[in-house]
Amino acid sequence: MRIGILTGGGDCPGLNAVIRAVGRRAFTRGWEVVGVREGWRGLVEGIFTALGPREISGLLPRGGTILGTTRTNPYKIDAVELVLEHFEHERLDALVAIGGEDTLGVAARLYAERDFPVVGVPKTIDNDLSATDYTFGFDTAVFIATEAIDRLHTTAESHNRVMVVEVMGRHTGWIAVMSGIAGGADVILIPEQPMTVEAACAEIQKRHTLGKDFSIVVVSEGYELTYASGESRLVAEEARPSDQFGHVRLGGVGDALAREIEERTGYESRVTVLGHVQRGGTPTPRDRVLATRYGLKAADLVAEGRFGRMAALRGDSIVDVSLQEATAELKTVPEDWYAVAKAFFG
Ligand code: F6P
Repeated sequence: MRIGILTGGGDCPGLNAVIRAVGRRAFTRGWEVVGVREGWRGLVEGIFTALGPREISGLLPRGGTILGTTRTNPYKIDAVELVLEHFEHERLDALVAIGGEDTLGVAARLYAERDFPVVGVPKTIDNDLSATDYTFGFDTAVFIATEAIDRLHTTAESHNRVMVVEVMGRHTGWIAVMSGIAGGADVILIPEQPMTVEAACAEIQKRHTLGKDFSIVVVSEGYELTYASGESRLVAEEARPSDQFGHVRLGGVGDALAREIEERTGYESRVTVLGHVQRGGTPTPRDRVLATRYGLKAADLVAEGRFGRMAALRGDSIVDVSLQEATAELKTVPEDWYAVAKAFFG
């Protein structure tokens, strides 16, 4: 057996831990392992690298991905035949695709339409993949954002300021809600539950009249500035091209929100945009363990010939689900999670 591994989409802590786990289980079985470089681009262009015990050693704590990654979409650039040709030319029997909704969406389609022998591993700091309780990388992002919120508390308190923290998450607010709860944020704004700017300001004012002189506001990059009038506005770098999966580049809502808060409340406000810091560096122990369990499961699915499946976490168990189910729709933050956050607003 000769298997390929690819990492696609935005990088995320724990990718290397999955590669290590897949490799270790594969070598135990006497299989050969080939790294596909830079996501689907590696199969489109035929760029591979051999992965042996030496290459996968020391990977557990290492951030990023040793295979490189891109947001190449073979369907968008009409390169599906090239993917299949290079896969065959490299004499691969199966592929482990590690990615989020985009990378795994391509895997699901290749499996459904071309019977492509692929299994998936759910990766993304955004935690927005369906059919799994958590993706790896998310815990690390929440850890980093929480630490930032903790640090911002002391400076906010010293200067009597409102600190707005913009976190990633694309069109879901998982990172904002979890880090906001963990860090004790006073207001959390997410795309799924669009609280108005006026209501957010009212929470801050209420808090300040109750004797607090500072506030921490966590905003998810995909939150649309929403007003009591019913108007709303997504802040994105629209001038830049979207990627091959049609995503606009988000960012800037924190700045716009801080300005609004300062103008409407009169409280001095500052913004911190955490950006790619949330994706960099070593994974938390929880992410290392989750990534490892996912990697072993993916190798087992290959051994069983159960293609079109994805390793997933349900409760405390690693199970498998269909790639189709995992990528059919985004997993958004449910109301009851937001209710936990809201209990501490103001
Ligand atoms: O999907 C992961 C993610 O980090 C999103 O939270 C964010 O919107 C996007 O990727 C940023 O993408 P890029 O790395 O292309 O700037």
